[in-house]
Amino acid sequence: MNQQIEPLASHPAPPCAVVIFGASGDLTKRKLVPSLYNLASIGMLPADFSIIGVARREMSHDAFREQMTKDMQEFATQKIDPALWDKFRERIYYCQGEFDNPETYGRLATLLEESEKKHGTQGNALFYLSVQPTYFAPIAEQLKQHNLVEEKDGHWRRVIVEKPFGHDLASARELNGRLSAALAESQIFRIDHYLGKETAQNILVFRVGNAMFEPIWNRHHIDHVQITVAESIGVEGRGAFYETAGAFRDVIQNHMFMLMALIAMEPPNSLAGEAVRNEKVKLLQAVRQMTPDEVLRDTVRGQYGAGTVNGKPVPGYREEKNVAPDSTIETYAALKLGIDNWRWAGVPFYLRSGKRLPRRSTEIIVRFKSPALSLFGDNEADPLGPNRLIFHIQPEEGIALQVRAKVPGPTICTRGVKLDFGYSQFGPVAPTTGYEKMMYDCMMGDSTLFHRTDMVDAAWIAAQPIIETWAANPPTDLPNYAAGTWGPAAAEEMMHRDQHNWQIPVA
Ligand SMILES: NC(=O)c1ccc[n+]([C@@H]2O[C@H](COP(=O)([O-])OP(=O)(O)OC[C@H]3O[C@@H](n4cnc5c(N)ncnc54)[C@H](OP(=O)(O)O)[C@@H]3O)[C@@H](O)[C@H]2O)c1
Repeated sequence: MNQQIEPLASHPAPPCAVVIFGASGDLTKRKLVPSLYNLASIGMLPADFSIIGVARREMSHDAFREQMTKDMQEFATQKIDPALWDKFRERIYYCQGEFDNPETYGRLATLLEESEKKHGTQGNALFYLSVQPTYFAPIAEQLKQHNLVEEKDGHWRRVIVEKPFGHDLASARELNGRLSAALAESQIFRIDHYLGKETAQNILVFRVGNAMFEPIWNRHHIDHVQITVAESIGVEGRGAFYETAGAFRDVIQNHMFMLMALIAMEPPNSLAGEAVRNEKVKLLQAVRQMTPDEVLRDTVRGQYGAGTVNGKPVPGYREEKNVAPDSTIETYAALKLGIDNWRWAGVPFYLRSGKRLPRRSTEIIVRFKSPALSLFGDNEADPLGPNRLIFHIQPEEGIALQVRAKVPGPTICTRGVKLDFGYSQFGPVAPTTGYEKMMYDCMMGDSTLFHRTDMVDAAWIAAQPIIETWAANPPTDLPNYAAGTWGPAAAEEMMHRDQHNWQIPVA
């Protein structure tokens, strides 16, 4: 057992075959195979497993194994143990075929049967759809037609679906309808890798595992919440994809809405998957539907022009490959949301996400109300008044509580200081890909961190007024921020109207 990695759980997952659709793609080599290897290295992958990659290009089993071996040298998150990799590698297979060709599934069925006999996978299979979204439903339908998702004789068949889950409410409903016709809800695992991050999982633990926070987790004590997902990169060759998405659909409507749900949901009455997901749905359903006037007032769109990031000059979005020279796609979005329930009435939730910002950082700031009486008013060395609880989600993970303390010296002078928690307190932890927990949970049948149909639906219902109002009112001022800055001035103005500021994420 590799001592460098904290065990994710105490049991290996049950025997199974992991079938990766899109096996020659980017996600497979960067994240999926390294995650499975990481699970194997800590004894969490079953001894009886196999991996079957499905993709279009011609390749033998050996050529695929060789490719995975090379890719691991580049993308593994830990030093590879040659003996473990040899055992891992001999359980990897390749199934060539077009996703919409029935013959592909005939070949896959044969490989699954062989796996069962040779590797003892016991008929259990996890199908990971690491493919473009247009293939999600067709693959699920083909799997059903070929009886590959039938759960009989006590074995399980589960499907992990990548993002995005639709482009708007109508397309999400269509996709969910087709998936539900092919699979039971208990077989569908819609993945959001943000939720597999330690700190995202820690939000609920922190809230309800410490008696001090829950009593003040409400409108009486919390002034507002800020959630930031900042990226320093641009579109990195994915211009064609980004032109159909934009910051709101790519990041805010899914990852950030779900982070907000974790912060704001009611504590569940158990940690069972359905109990947690029921509370998330209720929260998403309570997000206030914005009127068009509110959308125009309480949201901001931005697009980067040329600028400097990390000391290097970079082009503007409209100069990127496969981007229209007059594109009105937003590479930055900020919004103010309200939650219409008893706990959060009147507490604004500010969300912002952008590309080509000064640095990469995802964090959530819960800003508490200021003390009722400022006894230290004139002596404050530092004007930052209120307490803040900060969840750092990436790149570094950790939690910090900002409190006030007296500066040493003969006079009463106060300053904001941080009580800091970092995961190094648990000992050395090897970097993970962020997908291990999700893969393992799916093999264990634990759906807590995955999105249920009604969660996807509720998130799109909340997003729909924004999408529609933006479509009816195309922006005329783009580009409106320089690469390497914190976004358009209008996003700051939106906060100033409420006497707030965006907090600059820590480096
Ligand atoms: N890349 C990431 O870091 C990342 C992060 C988060 C989410 N995602 C999501 O993960 C999914 C996969 O992304 P990706 O970046 O890995 O995609 P990708 O690099 O474009 O890979 C696509 C894969 O699908 C195969 N394929 C495409 N059309 C096919 C067809 N008609 N028949 C058979 N095989 C076909 C390709 O095989 P050939 O190459 O042999 O044609 C390739 O293996 C997407 O839904 C994406 O949104 C990706």
